[in-house]
Amino acid sequence: MIKPKKQLSIEIVKDKSSVLAIARSLPHFFSNEGLASMTKDLKTHILRGAFMDNTLVGFVILRKADMRSLEISWLAILPSYQNQGIGKKLVKESLKYFTDKKYIVCYVKTLAETANDDGYAKTRAFYKSLGFQALEIINPYPGWSDENPCQILATALPLSQK
Ligand SMILES: CC(C)(COP(=O)(O)OP(=O)(O)OC[C@H]1O[C@@H](n2cnc3c(N)ncnc32)[C@H](O)[C@@H]1OP(=O)(O)O)[C@@H](O)C(=O)NCCC(=O)NCCS
Repeated sequence: MIKPKKQLSIEIVKDKSSVLAIARSLPHFFSNEGLASMTKDLKTHILRGAFMDNTLVGFVILRKADMRSLEISWLAILPSYQNQGIGKKLVKESLKYFTDKKYIVCYVKTLAETANDDGYAKTRAFYKSLGFQALEIINPYPGWSDENPCQILATALPLSQK
């Protein structure tokens, strides 16, 4: 018998503890300090989830940085669900909603290429595949240690829907 294809949907997340469970499964990207900061942000920032057959497999947390600009404050896809286009769909659909609400810029702060970290090389390639451009590296970034140079990537909205 042919198994039905799994259904991916992008939705509002009600159970915030499952968001933290996904972040904990990626310790290279989310330290205990990061998790504490994410817990705080979850109270005020915007959260959208990627659900595969009703199970949360990824999330994006967005902050309204200004009247027309958004920041991606946190983003993760469960390791076993990565490289299947889920992150791309999650970010595109979440940003599309805000583009319709007149947001014209989106940016993200991530670990810079000068840190030579393979994990984050994939992260930056992911953002670039969505149309983000590297703006500048700031080191030290306030609140970040010297070993973690911060790279800012930004894109105009709307994103290309390709
Ligand atoms: C970054 C992350 C969210 C991407 O999610 P994902 O679902 O794995 O990504 P997708 O499958 O949607 O990939 C989309 C595009 O990214 C690019 N990409 C993905 N992995 C890549 C790699 N290893 N090398 C180069 N490009 C890559 C590709 O262009 C890909 O598009 P294509 O398949 O059409 O070529 C995910 O890897 C993750 O959770 N990483 C750890 C946490 C993290 O980095 N969070 C962000 C902190 S700022």
